[in-house]
Amino acid sequence: MKDQKKTPLFDRILDYINEETTPFHVPAHKMGKGIHPKWKDFAGENIFKMDLTEVQGLDDLHQADGVIQEAQELAAEAWGADSSYFLVNGTSGGIVASICTAAKQGEKIIVPRNSHKSTVYGLIVSGAVPVYISPEIDREKGLVGGILPSTLQKVYRDNKEAKGMVAVSPTYYGVCSDIKRLIEITHQYNGIFIADEAHGNHVYFHEKLPKGALFLGADLCCQSIHKMSGSLGQSSILHTKGNRVDVNRLKANLQMTQSTSPSYILMVSLDLARSNMAIKGHKLLEDLIELTEKTRKQIEKIPFIEVLGPSITGIHGIAEYEPARLVVSARKLGIQGYELYKLLRKDYQIEIEFGDYFYGVCILGIYTTHDELDRLVRALKDISMRFRGQKKPLVWNEELPPIPPQILSPREAYFADVEKVPWSRAKGRIIADMVVPYPPGIPTICPGELITDEVWDFLDAQSKAERHFHGSEDGSLTSIQVVSKLG
Ligand SMILES: Cc1ncc(COP(=O)(O)O)c(C=O)c1O
Repeated sequence: MKDQKKTPLFDRILDYINEETTPFHVPAHKMGKGIHPKWKDFAGENIFKMDLTEVQGLDDLHQADGVIQEAQELAAEAWGADSSYFLVNGTSGGIVASICTAAKQGEKIIVPRNSHKSTVYGLIVSGAVPVYISPEIDREKGLVGGILPSTLQKVYRDNKEAKGMVAVSPTYYGVCSDIKRLIEITHQYNGIFIADEAHGNHVYFHEKLPKGALFLGADLCCQSIHKMSGSLGQSSILHTKGNRVDVNRLKANLQMTQSTSPSYILMVSLDLARSNMAIKGHKLLEDLIELTEKTRKQIEKIPFIEVLGPSITGIHGIAEYEPARLVVSARKLGIQGYELYKLLRKDYQIEIEFGDYFYGVCILGIYTTHDELDRLVRALKDISMRFRGQKKPLVWNEELPPIPPQILSPREAYFADVEKVPWSRAKGRIIADMVVPYPPGIPTICPGELITDEVWDFLDAQSKAERHFHGSEDGSLTSIQVVSKLG
């Protein structure tokens, strides 16, 4: 067992600063001297002294064998991985590197339809061909559920040569699939399981939270430590487990997706967040879970306001719910999630993570306080009073069209000549972008796919119903990027 109180990178940086070595190296602000005085007045001097580079004694992220390696080994132990790699370009960079490691140009990889856009970028960079798998949809709630193991079994049976799969769990909404079974099935087919745990890095530190994918045998696992475990924005970790992954290839791919001047401030924040979670994580999460549960109960009692919780498990492929998340809806008041998001900021000085058609997603953290949550509850109570009886409740219960045929890989579509056409003339064309209507928030069509009659009719109906679209230029369906006519 390593001593998780240790913070090797932080300590070595302080030593370097105290040595007062004359800096003839980047960054050119020279340990803060060149930073704008306004910023120094606000932030103080010390943080800028820590903005260093690979000076002697501070190791090299891309060939770590000193303090960075020591810090990464502590992280590997804290999360139960075989090896861990600090990411200074977020989980996004880790996902791209992971996909490039698992599947090469032309090889198949199973990708959930509700993947983060970094997965699509991974497909574009690697040239791998996605075999899309649809998560279950709770149509009444307008919520994307989990991936059913039986669906994955079928996809593998039809695509035995697939090199593995990517899975997001928990999702932004706190939904967890049966990751244990998905990993077992992937391994039966000798595939590599890539866990997108952008939102799940904290679950390893408390038994009341869903089991982490690494614990369940994932081969690669990307975690945004900045989202839940208290490091600085953009700092993440990629972990590996087992012997399915070619680690040298992974390291090469990480060099491709990350800066040659990685920020030491970001890496230090990972070193310190890891120590904090390993030492105090259990207690902090215990408090957070208790606080969230209490708040959820209070919100449940507010008329016309809904909140997601563990009761949604057991159907729609949802194996577990991440209890430390608060996802609220005012749809019974006729208020969309986007409107709720704006209203909370404008009238109550509360900024939540985002809103979609039905939901407002509030991200809580290990230092969220009772007072902050109390303020949210009071705001929701007020909204419930102010807006009742004004508008019709929002409903959605649509059947999604089947996934359309893939004519080009995402890479081919991305690099093809494209043109913009009015939506009315898009039928039968190959799309260069993706279109994601809300609800439920998964792409109806992805780059390289054919705009079939069914897809066109579905999206057109959603557009007439004034749904919001992600991926299209202005959030509507006025015009769309398609691949110019082939050959
Ligand atoms: C599911 C999912 N995966 C990956 C990412 C990318 O993470 P990062 O912002 O750390 O690059 C996000 C970001 O929101 C996400 O929600």
